[in-house]
Amino acid sequence: MKINADIIADRNWILEKLEIGKEMVYLTKKEVIDMGITEEDVLNLTKDALIEHGKKEYEMPAKIGVHPFEEVFFHAMPAYIPSKKAVGAKWIECYPFNPSKFSLPQTTGLLILNDISSGCPIALMDSTWITAMRTPAVTMLAAEALHPDAETFGMFGCGIQGIEHVKYSVRTLKKLKKIYVYDTKEEAMDNLIREVQPKIGVEIIKGKNPEQVTKSCEVLSSATIILKEPHAVVKDEWVSKGQTILPCDLNTFWDPVTSKRADKYIVDSIEEFELFNNMGYFPDGLPKISCETGEMLAGVNKGRENKEELIVCSNIGMAVCDVVVGREILNRALVNNVGTRLEL
Ligand SMILES: NC(=O)c1ccc[n+]([C@@H]2O[C@H](COP(=O)([O-])OP(=O)(O)OC[C@H]3O[C@@H](n4cnc5c(N)ncnc54)[C@H](O)[C@@H]3O)[C@@H](O)[C@H]2O)c1
Repeated sequence: MKINADIIADRNWILEKLEIGKEMVYLTKKEVIDMGITEEDVLNLTKDALIEHGKKEYEMPAKIGVHPFEEVFFHAMPAYIPSKKAVGAKWIECYPFNPSKFSLPQTTGLLILNDISSGCPIALMDSTWITAMRTPAVTMLAAEALHPDAETFGMFGCGIQGIEHVKYSVRTLKKLKKIYVYDTKEEAMDNLIREVQPKIGVEIIKGKNPEQVTKSCEVLSSATIILKEPHAVVKDEWVSKGQTILPCDLNTFWDPVTSKRADKYIVDSIEEFELFNNMGYFPDGLPKISCETGEMLAGVNKGRENKEELIVCSNIGMAVCDVVVGREILNRALVNNVGTRLEL
């Protein structure tokens, strides 16, 4: 790839607002949120990123990580999407026991963005909000492609991700009539309903147990905890033909048999899933992968082909989505002169 006129134009646009090579912008979580990016914006940006990924118009090596303890990881997530002039890396952690041990989120992180022509860092921002938004966007874009006429949606896990998944669900699944939610913590379900119900027109029902929710819903998602040993909370015998299952917590929540017997097992990144497999997250072996989520959205590969298919679409999160959403946040921060300038 060469420096083309597009890249130079982008550099000049940034240079009008920032001294590339001498300074960068730091954005707090609040400043990121204050840029006013809507759920619709995140859906559009994430869709663009997934389609570029599906067309192979990207560079994104599989996450590399360090693991200070068993069951925790730090991941470096670099990506480049040429069409969006978005290049950078997210540095995130996943500490599943943070909420119970320290009353801190499972996942925090930072995103760094760079100028493409010179490579200089131009921004550093909190990435918690980006992760909280682009993850449900991926799930719900996949749900729209696989099950657009769904009338029932079930969400397992009512924490940060669960709340956003329910909010995003009504944006892409336009025919929803009922949403079931389930969490081992009663207060998490109550909190989700309190926060989301006033914002959406679809009834949210507190699930009695995982079996009831699984048997009541056409489309299901889970955002609970990622552990190496599957908990298999949802038994395979509760799952039936025609359902669409969209975990964002890898293999932990579902009976591994379900993913293996599904008519299609779609993932956001084959490379990432092979990496997690090598790290020991699929003790029963990685299911046979049909295609990638982005390929389905780009029309390169088929998603659902008939109403009978049982489809599992598992998305572990891709840096291409982070840098595209992050670049839009930076653009708005530069235009509005928001953030703290840090000398390099
Ligand atoms: N795929 C991605 O891109 C991506 C991105 C961010 C987070 N995640 C993953 O999503 C999951 C949720 O993240 P979060 O930030 O919402 O965490 P959170 O701690 O805010 O929420 C998790 C919720 O799941 C509930 N839970 C745990 N075990 C459960 C079970 N067996 N049955 C029902 N509920 C259960 C907890 O009580 C909690 O309310 C984590 O595993 C995280 O690693 C994935």
